[in-house]
Amino acid sequence: MAFKIILQLIVIHFWVLTPTIFAQDSKQFIYQGFQQANLHLDGAATVAANGLLQLTNYSKQLTAHAFHPQPLNFSSSSSLSFSTHYVFAMYPEIQSISGHGIVFVLSPSMSFPHGVPGKFFGLFNSSSDFMPSDHIFAVELDTIQDFEFSDLDSNHVGININSLISNASASAAYFSDAENVNRSLNLLSARRMQIWIDYNHENMLVQVTMAPIEVPKPSRPLLSFRVNLSEVLSETMYVGFSSSTGSVASSHYLLGWSFAHGGETAQRLDLSKLPRLPRYGSRGRKLSVGSMILVIVISVIVITVGLIFYVIRRKKYEELIEDWEKEYLLQRFSFKDLYRATKGFKDKEVLGAGGFGKVYKGNLTCPKLEVAVKRVSHGSGQGMREFMAEVACMGRLRHRNLVQLLGYCRRKEELILVYDFMPNGSLDKYLYEDEKPNLSWSARFKVIRGVASALVYLHEEWEQVIVHRDVKASNILLDAEMNARLGDFGLARLYDHGSNPQTTHVVGTVGYLAPELTRKGKATTCTDVFSFGVFILEVACGRSPITLNGSNAETYLIEWVYECWKTGVLIEAGDPKLGGNYVVDEMELILRLGMFCCHPRPEGRPNMRQVMQFLNRDNTLPEMIPFDAKAAHSTSNNQISFPTSSVGNSAYASYSSESILQVGR
Ligand SMILES: *[C@@H]1O[C@H](CO)[C@@H](O)[C@H](O)[C@H]1NC(C)=O
Ligand SMILES: *[C@@H]1O[C@H](CO)[C@@H](O)[C@H](O)[C@H]1NC(C)=O
Ligand SMILES: *[C@@H]1O[C@H](CO)[C@@H](O)[C@H](O)[C@H]1NC(C)=O
Ligand SMILES: *[C@@H]1O[C@H](CO)[C@@H](O)[C@H](O)[C@H]1NC(C)=O
Ligand SMILES: *[C@@H]1O[C@H](CO)[C@@H](O)[C@H](O)[C@H]1NC(C)=O
Ligand SMILES: *[C@@H]1O[C@H](CO)[C@@H](O)[C@H](O)[C@H]1NC(C)=O
Repeated sequence: MAFKIILQLIVIHFWVLTPTIFAQDSKQFIYQGFQQANLHLDGAATVAANGLLQLTNYSKQLTAHAFHPQPLNFSSSSSLSFSTHYVFAMYPEIQSISGHGIVFVLSPSMSFPHGVPGKFFGLFNSSSDFMPSDHIFAVELDTIQDFEFSDLDSNHVGININSLISNASASAAYFSDAENVNRSLNLLSARRMQIWIDYNHENMLVQVTMAPIEVPKPSRPLLSFRVNLSEVLSETMYVGFSSSTGSVASSHYLLGWSFAHGGETAQRLDLSKLPRLPRYGSRGRKLSVGSMILVIVISVIVITVGLIFYVIRRKKYEELIEDWEKEYLLQRFSFKDLYRATKGFKDKEVLGAGGFGKVYKGNLTCPKLEVAVKRVSHGSGQGMREFMAEVACMGRLRHRNLVQLLGYCRRKEELILVYDFMPNGSLDKYLYEDEKPNLSWSARFKVIRGVASALVYLHEEWEQVIVHRDVKASNILLDAEMNARLGDFGLARLYDHGSNPQTTHVVGTVGYLAPELTRKGKATTCTDVFSFGVFILEVACGRSPITLNGSNAETYLIEWVYECWKTGVLIEAGDPKLGGNYVVDEMELILRLGMFCCHPRPEGRPNMRQVMQFLNRDNTLPEMIPFDAKAAHSTSNNQISFPTSSVGNSAYASYSSESILQVGR
């Protein structure tokens, strides 16, 4: 008996309770996973064992439909309002360009035999679009921008009535109540997202609201659209989803869906009960043979282009290094560093140009250093090795009035020398160019003493005698404190190596050449003294060694100063630009010393040590004995040739001489 009662109780229990658990009343339903949903599926739609509803996969041109199997009664105005909440995810085959989308649909039928995939979402075809007789209300999640349908972008949400042209649309986004800003959403992010669609028939307002999975329903909808749905819907409607892929595919998933109509609000989905999604990228991403070939072809192209660039780069920065160079303790710079330092040897970085090549301003980064980079082209002649030995010696020279050679780099046919950068440029500019400030007498006197001191060092103080061969104003550079720095020594020698060794040329600059040099072609310390003499006259008088007068006749500075002296007005030879602001004694000393150094006969000239003594007033300058000043510039009986590389007033004539270093003092 008791058993019977218990049995009855159990039966009653089932009769009463079961419908509230499983059967969903006709006005609302909720699916947290779709195992028991018994949805009407067609096309590619499948429900996985875990309850995940997969509408499309990575195959192209698919359609899929999933509908609640029972029709809903939308006949009375009280039943027209509805509310729905669902969770979806879109896995793009190719990031950001996959399609097509998922559509929430209210439709009088749940079969769409004429539905076309792609942009028609499996709902319409090109002739059924825009038909009021369709009675279709839809909310689309569209990941392709179709201009035909005036789509906003390739990541939008739209409300559609009987048409693929949205009556209202917006880029996927949500209002963040926490931050009080709109945040955009990427439909193809392969993340779970929620969407709420609410229609209130009393105020005829459709509202679409979105949010990422972790955010509760935002207070502000993404879309609000006013429409009298009783004009759109028919009495009996089916509710569900339609989805499609086009010529690009994505996998579309639904995880949960809750729906209510007749004024009820859709039940909230319990997000923890939703089925799990597959790991993105792990499944269904088999590469087709076509894409595999494409990947291989692209890889080959990339590698080839990379190799070409590598080779070009190697070629661009190629250098010439030979074993013997290691013997010289001169620092070697990499061509790449120099190339970068000079911004690729840009013309804008050119500081000056001479017969030997251009000089560029350079900024080395490591160590951080401003340098002058001289790029000298040379033949690949045999002389290179000997010459490099001399350059290496020059790297060892240290004197406060010499431009310091820091190092070099060698490429085919090209030698690059790196020097200390002299911020104030060369002296000739100060003497002749108007834009540079006029040099005061004390500054000029300091420059003269500096150059004399450098020549004493080269001629007498270093372990070997060094003849500079090209002392002139444009080879005197000025450092930041306006100290004179003698530069460019030895380069005349390099020029020799580049030229034909058979020819006999004179090295130096016209106007500074000692007469015996043009006759015998032998550079000595005495010829340097002569050039120095011309140079100091130039500084004192502010005149070039040779000037052309009106009738194109050459006037030689030495001759002119000599004439001034002979007529007893020596001091008037002083640079008029000084405006008389000089120490008369010093001016006279320089003018007389200049003439002394320019004596036509080498044995008539002082040596550089004596010159220094005169400048320091440690010794008095002997009285001048009249000499043949014309002989001091005897250019009439010489064989100077002017090579085509002459630039400006630096007319280089070269000859193949012995080394600039005169070994064995
Ligand atoms: C996608 O679904 C269709 C229809 O169910 C099927 O024929 C096809 O093999 C599936 N493709 C992949 C890549 O799973
Ligand atoms: C729909 O509901 C109305 C009353 O609200 C009823 O009169 C009508 O018969 C129903 N239609 C169907 C198809 O169930
Ligand atoms: C388009 O769909 C309608 C029904 O919705 C059908 O009658 C028509 O034949 C279809 N047109 C094409 C071209 O498939
Ligand atoms: C919605 O758009 C369709 C197609 O553009 C149009 O025919 C219809 O009148 C629009 N409905 C409303 C309520 O604006
Ligand atoms: C957020 O977007 C909505 C609709 O797109 C707009 O009306 C609103 O002004 C936006 N709010 C902010 C704070 O940008
Ligand atoms: C909505 O449309 C229905 C059917 O056309 C009509 O009877 C009703 O008056 C409309 N409601 C409003 C407020 O316009």
